[in-house]
Amino acid sequence: MSEHVSRRTAMRLLGAAAVAAGGAGCTVTPGAGARTGAQPATAARLAAEAPARPARPARPGSAARVQALLERLTLDEKVGLLHGDRDPASLGQAGYVPGVPRLGIPPLRLADGPAGVRVAAPATALPAPVLLASAFDPALAREYGRVIGREGRALGQDVLLSPMVNLIRTPYAGRNFETFAEDPKLTADLVGEVIRGIQDEGLIATVKHYALNNQEQGRTSVDVVAGEQVMHETELRGFEAAVGAGCGSVMGAYNKVNGVHACESKPLLDELLRGRWGFDGWVMSDWDATHSTAAALTAGLDMEMPGGRHFGAALKQAVTAGTVPVGHVDRAVSRLLATLDRFGLLDGAPPARPVRDPAAGARTARRVAVAGAVLLRNERGTLPLTGPATRSLAVIGPTGQHPFVSGGGSAHVVPDRAESPLDALRRRAGKGAQVRHALGEDLYGRPLPGNALTPAADLDDRAVAAGRTWTHQGRFTLPADDEWTLYVHYTGRRPSVKLDGEELFPVQQGVAEFFAGGLLGTAPDGRTVRRRTLRLAKGTHTLAVSAEGGPAGQRFRLRHSTRATREADLAEAVRTAGAAHSCVLFAYEDATEGRDRTSLALPGAQQRLIEAVTAANPRTTVVLNTSSSTTMPWLDRTGAVLQMYYPGQEGAAATAAVLFGDEDPGGRLTQTFPAAEHLHPVAGDPLRYPGVAGRQEYTEGIHVGHRWYDAQRVAPLFAFGHGLSYTSFGYEKLAVRQRGEGLAVEFTVRNTGTRRGTEVAQVYLGPSPDLRLDQPVRALAGYARLTLDPGRSRRVSVAVDARTLSSWDPAAHAWVLGTGRREVWAGRSSRDLPLRGAAVVRRAAATG
Ligand code: BGC
Repeated sequence: MSEHVSRRTAMRLLGAAAVAAGGAGCTVTPGAGARTGAQPATAARLAAEAPARPARPARPGSAARVQALLERLTLDEKVGLLHGDRDPASLGQAGYVPGVPRLGIPPLRLADGPAGVRVAAPATALPAPVLLASAFDPALAREYGRVIGREGRALGQDVLLSPMVNLIRTPYAGRNFETFAEDPKLTADLVGEVIRGIQDEGLIATVKHYALNNQEQGRTSVDVVAGEQVMHETELRGFEAAVGAGCGSVMGAYNKVNGVHACESKPLLDELLRGRWGFDGWVMSDWDATHSTAAALTAGLDMEMPGGRHFGAALKQAVTAGTVPVGHVDRAVSRLLATLDRFGLLDGAPPARPVRDPAAGARTARRVAVAGAVLLRNERGTLPLTGPATRSLAVIGPTGQHPFVSGGGSAHVVPDRAESPLDALRRRAGKGAQVRHALGEDLYGRPLPGNALTPAADLDDRAVAAGRTWTHQGRFTLPADDEWTLYVHYTGRRPSVKLDGEELFPVQQGVAEFFAGGLLGTAPDGRTVRRRTLRLAKGTHTLAVSAEGGPAGQRFRLRHSTRATREADLAEAVRTAGAAHSCVLFAYEDATEGRDRTSLALPGAQQRLIEAVTAANPRTTVVLNTSSSTTMPWLDRTGAVLQMYYPGQEGAAATAAVLFGDEDPGGRLTQTFPAAEHLHPVAGDPLRYPGVAGRQEYTEGIHVGHRWYDAQRVAPLFAFGHGLSYTSFGYEKLAVRQRGEGLAVEFTVRNTGTRRGTEVAQVYLGPSPDLRLDQPVRALAGYARLTLDPGRSRRVSVAVDARTLSSWDPAAHAWVLGTGRREVWAGRSSRDLPLRGAAVVRRAAATG
């Protein structure tokens, strides 16, 4: 049963009262609501809760330096530090704050992550965070952060707008690739290390989007409703861990939380973030997510981005009129300055910027892509490709040729380079091997048939000089009725294309235009693409094209596909697959910020393509370059399925290395893949995703992700934690005992196969019999990634800390230790747990 949430209880949400009683950090209070009354009367601190060393602690004398600056800053200058402005020398980053050079406060440049530094210049395009997370490897997360930290500094940036820690709550959410997992603990473990990595290199990290920003639909207005226990045990875990790691900045979300915009929520910003967690950095709004001046500043928002609608002239006026105390402004400014001081940015001469190391970035990008590659299925020895499979291979799919590097929206990075998967596979197969490609589905169209245009015109690569206009007026004649897709690829201004007087590619305003990027919106040569599908009748139509060169000139091409070309592409794919020994089919799903998915099926005609290709060649591996889970009605027809998400600029080489068995697929799913559209935690009931009347309730309660499948006994397509190796592993000899207020779990993992391979051994924990709170049937309690040679075994130790054994008690506003007999499972996924044991958990105070 999920916790019932009333608006009133939800608003007093986050336990500031308990802070006053127990101090910052985690306390165990006598278990209000516990079934047994035998509990000590005094609160005991959770020993294992001490936060790991924060990256970059405050420097001696910081408070005095900040105070001295505050005394010299004018009101205009203070207000100028609290909102974004236009950058006169923009490097293509998302945000800019001019600073106060006369006092040595430098301008700040703020660039998006989270899979690399997003500026106008090329950077290392790392694999999407969801792929990093799939490695279950906090040390690798640190390395990932380090690459971004160094590059951000090298590319002229001071603040990174990353990482994103919102949980994968629904598979439909458009930004699932930008975040880590559906599991709160895994998310919390990884985010801390990514932040330490970024900040180790001197770049200020910004954890986002605080909080409950788990969908794009209605994102700027949706009211997300969740109770105190639910929030602490799910979505908030990642943010708390980010604060524990010393994150310099927090970005408030677009949405409302329990009735109040996140950027003006006192419970979230003032009471929880600062009061309870002790956050000492500054809070900025998401882009245009500030809704007020006094309310937002008072609630704890420090900086409006990217402009100054509420925190610019309006703030100055409010201070002058006395409706906002200047002390509130000073408080926000000092939070910013204290953070800049922590990073050595107030020392007069800002720290020297490193030079980029693209080769090191590329090495990490490849390592992460291999480590996170999830082999979902492998039947009949389809993978790795060996023997005849390496000599005769069909590669199918548009993204087999044009690499799908990263997702769209603000996460898109200009990569240093991006090899074609086809080239990588050819290189790996070597001379003499036959590796043939067929498109299967044409994403960008082919030139218009020459005989369709009267008068004749070359519309396949037109250049229009700066300041000039080019026009074409004529007839467009079709031999038969057909369904046409027309494409325009262009640089500069979008040309006008009118068919029978109707504009085919009207310019949309605002975010709709911006978020149309990604794989489908960008041609392989970087031109913007727009497409339009319509039924056209046989006969003569009118076509009018007009293109303006604008200030910098422009180039464009007009392309097409028809039912006939689509059938021809499919037939060629089937022929190519049938003629080869083995086949690798690259499938895509193009996700982007600003838009949720409308279906979990692969888009376009890919299902039909997979069915036809697997019928022609059952030794087919489907490589998925998708953002999140997909449904797979075609699964049984395939030989193998390899989930690569958006694998970054080295994705092609990493994919080839895994397919050929040079590397063991090291990733495990960080989200459950549902068996059907209606079989996941946020489906079915219209109150769930996307919500009704602008309201979205966490109806699954604390049972986010895999916890829901266990609680509801729903069989997934692929379970959380699932992923195959090319070898096999056995589990034996589980031992569980209490250590402090945590558990020490030990077991032996043996490589029972014939190859060296990597396993992610997972530990899950059952509920406490002593708590009367809702608890997961099984919660992820820990994991260990290990690589073993064939026949070798290792004793694995997993420490389960007191926090993991605790639940959030909304009556006490505190974590309570779940004492009593706790069941423990170990194995290779949330649904494949060969070992089972238990231990009794007692309070340290009670056990002495
Ligand atoms: C996104 C943020 C991003 C910001 C700046 C917003 O639309 O939600 O994640 O950091 O834009 O690009």
